[in-house]
Amino acid sequence: MQEKLDEIRRSVQEQLLAAGDSAQVEQIRVSVLGRKGELTALLKGMGKLSPEERPIVGQQVNALRQEIEAALAAKEAELQEKEKQARLEKEALDVSIPGKPVKVGNVHPLSSTLEKIITIFTGLGFSVVEGPEVELDHYNFELLNLPKNHPARDAQDTFYFNENILLRTHTSPVQARTMLSQKPPIRIICPGRVYRVDELDATHSPVFSQCEGLVIDEGVTMGDLKGTLDAFAQAMYGEGIQTRFRPSFFPFTEPSAEVDVTCAACKGAGCRICKGTGWIEILGAGMVNPHVLEMCGIDPERYTGFAFGIGIERVTNLKYNVPDMHLLFENDLRFLSQFGKGRV
Ligand code: DAH
Repeated sequence: MQEKLDEIRRSVQEQLLAAGDSAQVEQIRVSVLGRKGELTALLKGMGKLSPEERPIVGQQVNALRQEIEAALAAKEAELQEKEKQARLEKEALDVSIPGKPVKVGNVHPLSSTLEKIITIFTGLGFSVVEGPEVELDHYNFELLNLPKNHPARDAQDTFYFNENILLRTHTSPVQARTMLSQKPPIRIICPGRVYRVDELDATHSPVFSQCEGLVIDEGVTMGDLKGTLDAFAQAMYGEGIQTRFRPSFFPFTEPSAEVDVTCAACKGAGCRICKGTGWIEILGAGMVNPHVLEMCGIDPERYTGFAFGIGIERVTNLKYNVPDMHLLFENDLRFLSQFGKGRV
């Protein structure tokens, strides 16, 4: 009997040594300890033994059974550990591999100029109003004192959908819309895109942007206009920047002015950018024409007002010393990435 047990022990040890996975270990268990297993068969045959032999053999068989169970469990644990190691190796991350760079863009210079304009004017108590880019002739021209066939319309030729509907040529129609819908005091700016039939060249574009300003109240004077634009120019370009008003004509203002600021590139000394004059024109302005106030339902005997229209591309090019309008519209990343902390 002892021999038989030794043989089972050896055979199990050999098989376990060769086993490569849990399924094989299970097979071994069944073949020895299962219902039809070798050791089970021995236990079943014990009835044939003499009463003296029975407890001794029983003890030996049970001891072997425990030994085999322990060996099976140990093998199973070993295999599981190996599988875990293999899995970990397969899933391993190499944390030393350099990361993929994340491309960070930056705000377009036109947008940052507009943000700055808005910050300056909201700081002065203005609020921001927007209007439609597809506009009625009525608001774009007529209410601004530019009736049909008025010669000043020639300077603002635009894209017409039909006789009455067009792409707005300036942000001034938002003035008219605001005066019709709000009562004074009015203090607004209206930024937005405008359209004209112009070829793209260094200083023109068929699409560009403006920021309109309008103040209407009792007792508003040209001194208020001058003070407001001085404050704007200095906040935009720095101390020491001055404004210069040149007489001009706009049908919607009387008197009207074209407003220059000290050339930021040469600080007024005269350079290529300002064509030697020391000044750069950035906006049109004036006192709102009483006839316009009247057409928009505001009593010109009681109220006066000033208005201005800033060219955002002009202001941007002057601020950053950009020589050509194309650069603002081409979206060349080599140009645009110079305007932010983020790298493109
Ligand atoms: N709308 C004018 C233009 O586009 C600019 C302008 C001039 C706006 C005088 C104004 C103003 O509000 O008062 O050429």
